[in-house]
Amino acid sequence: MIEKGVNVKEPKGKLGILLPGLGAVGTTLIAGVELIRNGYSKPYGSLTQMGTIRLGKRTDDRVPKIKDFVPLAQLEDVVFGGWDIFNDNGYEAALNAGVLTKEDLDKVKPQMEAIKPMPAVFDKSYVKKLDGPNVKKGKTKMDLAEQLMKDMENFKNANNLDRIVIVWCGSTEVLLNPDSVWNSLPTFEAALKENHPAISSSMIYAYAALKLGIPYVNGAPHYTHDIPALLDLAQENKVPISGKDFKTGQTWMKTVVAPGIKARMLGVNGWFSTNILGNRDGEVLDDPDSFRSKEVTKSAALQYIFQPQTYPELYGDIYHKVRINYYPPSGDDKEGWDNIDIFGWLGYRMQIKINFLCKDSILAAPVALDLALFSDLAKRAGMSGIQEWLSFYLKSPMVAEDLYPEHDLFIQLMKLKNTLRYMMGEELITHLGLEYYD
Ligand SMILES: NC(=O)c1ccc[n+]([C@@H]2O[C@H](COP(=O)([O-])OP(=O)(O)OC[C@H]3O[C@@H](n4cnc5c(N)ncnc54)[C@H](O)[C@@H]3O)[C@@H](O)[C@H]2O)c1
Repeated sequence: MIEKGVNVKEPKGKLGILLPGLGAVGTTLIAGVELIRNGYSKPYGSLTQMGTIRLGKRTDDRVPKIKDFVPLAQLEDVVFGGWDIFNDNGYEAALNAGVLTKEDLDKVKPQMEAIKPMPAVFDKSYVKKLDGPNVKKGKTKMDLAEQLMKDMENFKNANNLDRIVIVWCGSTEVLLNPDSVWNSLPTFEAALKENHPAISSSMIYAYAALKLGIPYVNGAPHYTHDIPALLDLAQENKVPISGKDFKTGQTWMKTVVAPGIKARMLGVNGWFSTNILGNRDGEVLDDPDSFRSKEVTKSAALQYIFQPQTYPELYGDIYHKVRINYYPPSGDDKEGWDNIDIFGWLGYRMQIKINFLCKDSILAAPVALDLALFSDLAKRAGMSGIQEWLSFYLKSPMVAEDLYPEHDLFIQLMKLKNTLRYMMGEELITHLGLEYYD
């Protein structure tokens, strides 16, 4: 817990952002930051870079940019690196991902070519559709974790960094069944030494990061640090963690539209969401076990927003279906369709149709950037464990045991901004109109 108006340590020196997974999201993030800091574009889509925050009374006229209000690392001070199972450098990987044009990538070609993926910790049993040559060898999973810790330390020394954060931008792993080896740090560490199958590759990265006190963000929907052993480790080593699954595309749209329907007490009979995408993420999600991880994170949001237990007449019987279809010709241009069957006054039925033609990684890259910068801020503010205030960016936000996650985008934004106000010792904003009272 932070104290009101804590002294957040200034971001001196450089910040390393290490990404397990240099695919569509990872390379769009890196190339985007390079293009922005070289003046080719503005940081559209990034709250940390473009957002403002109102302070004090409405009449005070104090609305600084978030990046001028809290001491965030500057984009100029960020150094990128990462791991991937393929050897392609950042430029080649970005071309393959097909998100940004060659024309744009050529503007930052030397910087992108300098990104050389470190050999990954990877096991095909957790991502069935992938295989690649750039993979570490080790006798045990503990051995692999130690190799990752060395990578992190070497990267820090080689680039003369002050701090590091890690954001998982790797493929979605299969949905694992909870296992007793997850229950405590000692059982987890014993299992690492025994190569236990309940420990996935992403858990090895998270363990290595948390051991070194490095904040870790999970941008994918699978289990990683949301298990007791790693939650304990995060607390023990005072490390901020967050996850899971970047909130982009269809789920972002859901958490915008659903609160609006609920605010007016309109009922919902059904919500059918389907989409087509053709990038590698889509290919990985074509495997039913990886899709299962995604289906779980995509389905939960509506349940929490509509609260069917509290409003059974309105939301007690929603037919909610989510489909993801791999369709290579679409590439990274995901197309989503939502059909929402709603009812209003006297039970009369209406429909809302949303056809969202989005670019997945264009939406995800600024989310990954903000999560990295805010996680670094949280660490310097002495915050540790699950960072619920970052739910704004996440499809399936991690919360403390016994709490339910908040999915409403607008409540999430309020929570985020109030956390920043609290951190800097400013009054929290409740939107209470005191002018109505004597
Ligand atoms: N694009 C989006 O809008 C979006 C939104 C929410 C979540 N996500 C999640 O973000 C992740 C990345 O998405 P993407 O579109 O960049 O996928 P991608 O397939 O383009 O990139 C993933 C990369 O991770 C690499 N990889 C896989 N396992 C690895 C491991 N163990 N270590 C290191 N590298 C590994 C792959 O080789 C690949 O290059 C996925 O899990 C996806 O579900 C993406």
